[in-house]
Amino acid sequence: MILAIETSCDDTCAAVLEASGRHALSNVVHTQTEHERYGGVVPEVASRAHLERLDGVVGKALDDAGAELDEIERIAVTVRPGLIGALLVGLSTAKSLAFARKLPLVPVNHLEGHVAAAYLADPELEPPFVALIASGGHTALYSVAGDGMDLLGQTLDDAAGEALDKGARMLGLGFPGGPAISKAGRDGDPSRYDFPVALKENNNLDFSFSGLKTSLLYKLKALDESGVREELPHLAAGYEAAVVEALSRKLLRAAQLYDASILVVVGGVAANASLRRVLAEECERRGLKLVVPPPELCTDNAAMIGAAAATATAVPYPDYLSLNARSV
Ligand code: KG4
Ligand code: ZN
Repeated sequence: MILAIETSCDDTCAAVLEASGRHALSNVVHTQTEHERYGGVVPEVASRAHLERLDGVVGKALDDAGAELDEIERIAVTVRPGLIGALLVGLSTAKSLAFARKLPLVPVNHLEGHVAAAYLADPELEPPFVALIASGGHTALYSVAGDGMDLLGQTLDDAAGEALDKGARMLGLGFPGGPAISKAGRDGDPSRYDFPVALKENNNLDFSFSGLKTSLLYKLKALDESGVREELPHLAAGYEAAVVEALSRKLLRAAQLYDASILVVVGGVAANASLRRVLAEECERRGLKLVVPPPELCTDNAAMIGAAAATATAVPYPDYLSLNARSV
């Protein structure tokens, strides 16, 4: 079995997986609430909260899986990218457990972890495929082959989730912004307002959401308070539709350019119902296979880190003691 640990941001996570990495036996996520009063993740607060929680979270992951520590054969841990102090708590814990048990350790890139969530959602899945990671911190397209992932394009400014969060704040809606905008726009007309979709040129696989934010700002400036209230459903629906169009357009174009027949979407924004619907329809029409893991595997978790570790090269005992984490 694999024991996986993820502490790159504000979720303290541990999971136990079957050795194949295609099936999670447990997946424990403790989302830190300490940051709420600050309106954003405070790195030092995150590190300390990981330190307080991680032992308990690892214990629960073993309990939930009905596993003992001496049944674990390898330990997987996120080493980059993320908050450096937060990563170091996870890495130090993983090193200690692996060293104590003379086990190999697998350092995992968080983004490769996000993509590997697709193997848990569909255990039969095999590369090659194209993958879209859309979260609050990242928006990028990858071509995934048996030997690794190639970056095809990424956001030049905000991540898609960040654009939704900032848009929601401008509209006076709650956090996280993605679900708040979906809810506010449910009965709205997405075509009432014209929101821009950036970088539409044919071979461009990058994203940009700064123009979209500016466009919302100007539309809000032109309305008085009661106007904003009345127009809120249409503004939210239009804003969300522009983000969904940008993401789906680029993913479908990547599939075309790279002749891919399988598409994978991961990250918190993959929970978006409208994005799922648009992509499901387009993939059906084009005869493409679409894999979108359930929301609990799309947001940060350790099962995805274990899934990525199953096929990665392990660092043997005790060579990993000198391993370091990296913020980028
Ligand atoms: O992957 P994630 O949980 O955390 C990281 O950023 O690492 O992603 C969080 C992002 C937030 O920006 C949130 O607004 C967005 O995912 N999100 C959604 C939905 N649920 C979460 N965006 C659109 N629709 C949703 N249903
Ligand atoms: Zn993430």
